Amino acid sequence: MGKFQVIDHPLIQHKVSIIRDKNCGTKVFREVVDEIAMLMAYEISRDMPVEDVVIETPITKTTQKMLAGKKVAIIPILRAGLGMVDGILQLIPAAKVGHVGLYRDEETLEPHEYFVKLPEDIDSRQLLVVDPMLATGGSAIMAIDSLKKRGASNIKFVCLVAAPEGVKVLQEAHPDVDIYTAALDDHLNDHGYIVPGLGDAGDRLFGTK
Ligand code: PRP
Ligand code: URA
Repeated sequence: MGKFQVIDHPLIQHKVSIIRDKNCGTKVFREVVDEIAMLMAYEISRDMPVEDVVIETPITKTTQKMLAGKKVAIIPILRAGLGMVDGILQLIPAAKVGHVGLYRDEETLEPHEYFVKLPEDIDSRQLLVVDPMLATGGSAIMAIDSLKKRGASNIKFVCLVAAPEGVKVLQEAHPDVDIYTAALDDHLNDHGYIVPGLGDAGDRLFGTK
């Protein structure tokens, strides 16, 4: 089973509370989502491999560590996942970015795929699939299915708020995928929204509705 981690650093808890507030407007919502994603990237990248490199300081030659191994690609699930990309790019600026477009049918809660555009070498990259919300888990599972079908194998899923129901089904469907969230909430309501949650992440990020 992949790792499941709630990244509950005090700064992250504070910032998640800011965006949960229904009075938080689009501008601040967007800025704070970015900040949380950046802080999460710091923790998620903790296990990145490093290798010895020889460098010359103004004083002497020395062997030190730099990042090695697999390169990263960030894969936002459209739309709301877009809000997390820039924050992660601040820490991992060389990452490529692929897109998977999904929307959840409001009646059936089933996800529908409408767009996929990925870097050519996803099979050799560490993929960070990002979406603020893991609710029923349908969207995350479909996005990761889609990536695996195209050759991806090294995948981490990163969200801001997760429902226990979504974590369980995602772990069952993709036991090889590590899941990171900033908050683990209580449950889903009858409309498939996370409780207490933060409402519709896409609408709050983009000011729709
Ligand atoms: C939201 C959210 C996730 C999905 C989560 O997207 O950003 O992608 O719902 O729900 P699930 O775990 O039950 O599948 P939505 O479908 O509303 O699309 P949007 O990002 O374009 O608003
Ligand atoms: N999608 C959202 O944007 N919010 C939820 O609470 C559930 C799904």
